[in-house]
Amino acid sequence: MGILRQPDGMRALSRQWWREGRTLGLVPTMGNLHEGHLSLMRSAVAECDEAVASIYVNPLQFGAGEDFDGYPRTWEADLATLAEAGVATVFAPTDAVMYPPGFATSVEVAGLTDGLCARSRPGHFRGVTTVVMKLLCVVLPHRAYFGEKDYQQLAVIRRMTDDLGLGVQIVPMPTWREPSGLAMSSRNGYLSDDERARAVVLSRAIAAAQSVAAETDQAAAILAAANEVLAAEPLARVDYVELVDAETLEPLERVERPARLCLAVHIGPARLIDNGPVLPPGSPLPLGEG
Ligand code: PAF
Repeated sequence: MGILRQPDGMRALSRQWWREGRTLGLVPTMGNLHEGHLSLMRSAVAECDEAVASIYVNPLQFGAGEDFDGYPRTWEADLATLAEAGVATVFAPTDAVMYPPGFATSVEVAGLTDGLCARSRPGHFRGVTTVVMKLLCVVLPHRAYFGEKDYQQLAVIRRMTDDLGLGVQIVPMPTWREPSGLAMSSRNGYLSDDERARAVVLSRAIAAAQSVAAETDQAAAILAAANEVLAAEPLARVDYVELVDAETLEPLERVERPARLCLAVHIGPARLIDNGPVLPPGSPLPLGEG
């Protein structure tokens, strides 16, 4: 497996692939890879001539008091996972090359970064868009893969690449779930067995909201169904539960077009996020969604 740590070396390789007419797929990650990442990797391998995974725990997207220091670094296991997925190239830069002394530029998407997770994580999305922009500039992919579990992140990155005309195709990938319904996340590793079992409450809240949405377009009723499920779980400390337009992420009062139920809930030491589609009553749920 080729492991590149310097942006110049990565960019030179990418330029060579472009000259040879090969297509490139990038899967940006912070490591601690799980089955959900694997599905992104497998798609990149299947759809592109060259698949690159980046592994970089980006300090810019963690706020004070968040889990940057404790974020799991599982390098050897990650390489084994990438090999299993058939990814042959890893870009794993250091802080020194990503943010050398004097680094003073950031990329910020307005509007989409006002609500949902941005309220309790100020500056988080600026950190994400800055690092993703940098990764795209170095790796020069034709396609970049992002999971729908981080729905707001996906919307923000799509907006950034469209607005700046980067010419990269952003490929959304469905949330990968454990058999219980729990969305796979690196932060599930912070949970005890008991907390993990109770964390299923997030996907149950989404399912409850979706089933009420099959009967009514009223956001208040749909949100009440989700909140009722969450209120019954003593370990759940709700950060937010919101029903938003699937594209603009603006809160909705009625579901007249595709919407998204998004939530962030603390279970024990972990802040978990999840989301699911909510369609106007009478619309069939897209296959594989939920
Ligand atoms: O979703 C993540 O793992 C991170 O936010 C990303 C996109 C790799 C940027 O650091």
